[in-house]
Amino acid sequence: MSELKDYTVLIEEKLKELNFPSEPQKLYEPIQYILDLGGKRLRPALTLIAASLFRDDTSEAVPAALALEVFHNFTLLHDDIMDKAEIRRGKPTVHKVWNENVAILSGDAAIIKAYELLGQLPDSIFRKVFQVFNETALEVCEGQQYDMNFEEEELVTVPEYLEMIRLKTSVLIAAALKIGGICAGADAADQEILYELGINLGLAFQLQDDYLDVYASTEKFGKTSGGDIVNNKKTYLLINALNSDNKMLVEELKHWINLKDFNPPEKIEAVKKIYEELETGTDTQLQAVSFINNAVELLDSIDADSEKKKPLEELIFKLMYREK
Ligand code: IPE
Ligand code: IPE
Ligand code: MG
Ligand code: MG
Ligand code: MG
Repeated sequence: MSELKDYTVLIEEKLKELNFPSEPQKLYEPIQYILDLGGKRLRPALTLIAASLFRDDTSEAVPAALALEVFHNFTLLHDDIMDKAEIRRGKPTVHKVWNENVAILSGDAAIIKAYELLGQLPDSIFRKVFQVFNETALEVCEGQQYDMNFEEEELVTVPEYLEMIRLKTSVLIAAALKIGGICAGADAADQEILYELGINLGLAFQLQDDYLDVYASTEKFGKTSGGDIVNNKKTYLLINALNSDNKMLVEELKHWINLKDFNPPEKIEAVKKIYEELETGTDTQLQAVSFINNAVELLDSIDADSEKKKPLEELIFKLMYREK
């Protein structure tokens, strides 16, 4: 049986073997650049770990795992343009090193590469994986559009927020698990449990991402601290704060949201202070823990050896305490 770190080592090796042409440089180098910056490799790890629940040999799932990681990196290239983000994985974003057009087109090429990888799957599983992958990819776009819409909207409810993050983040994590199951011959019931587990894990993951965006240091998190505050992102922290009974602080928060000209560090500082007083960070973490608990319960109900569930269990807990 392999451990969590064996899977991540394998993924790194296989990602290095992806050969991108050298020309045109500005098309392929950015893809190599973002992939070389690392990251947690969460999605491919989930695919291989899910496959390992049902089959010792997980090699058939490898192209799908890689496709998911390449797809994820494509979403980051475009997301960083949309979020005006300057730092990713501790280094300048692709649109900063090159420019926005380069990041758009490299992203397009990356997604095509993801499909090429999917095409390496055995015929017997390709069609099913392809269907799950496509449904998921479209939902991620839907979630990203809601995320952008919400920047401009004054009133976003918690259910609307949860649906937005289910689409932009959870479905890819859920698909990574389900696809691992499909590749290893899991039955339909276990595929569905894996998917639900992934949805809950993904919701916790994005809540934690919102939290870390405010409270983690740029060095540790690898992204500019306070970026969501600057962009008026309707995060769980902001929505909860706006729902507070403390009228004075809510008014102050609205003032910062509506301000067109501001000094970013000053806005971040002021909004953070309001969050602090309203303890909205703690609420966010509590909400994340409740989704993690759901994920753990779902893991229990999968029809597989409890010994084989250990790597997934380890990964779930690792994510709960993550700082990046
Ligand atoms: C970032 O994903 C995008 C979100 C869904 C929050 P990750 O936090 O998995 O990014 P990397 O791949 O580890 O850099
Ligand atoms: C990311 O949401 C969702 C996707 C990339 C699809 P965020 O915008 O919060 O992710 P980060 O914080 O930039 O990684
Ligand atoms: Mg975004
Ligand atoms: Mg972003
Ligand atoms: Mg974020």
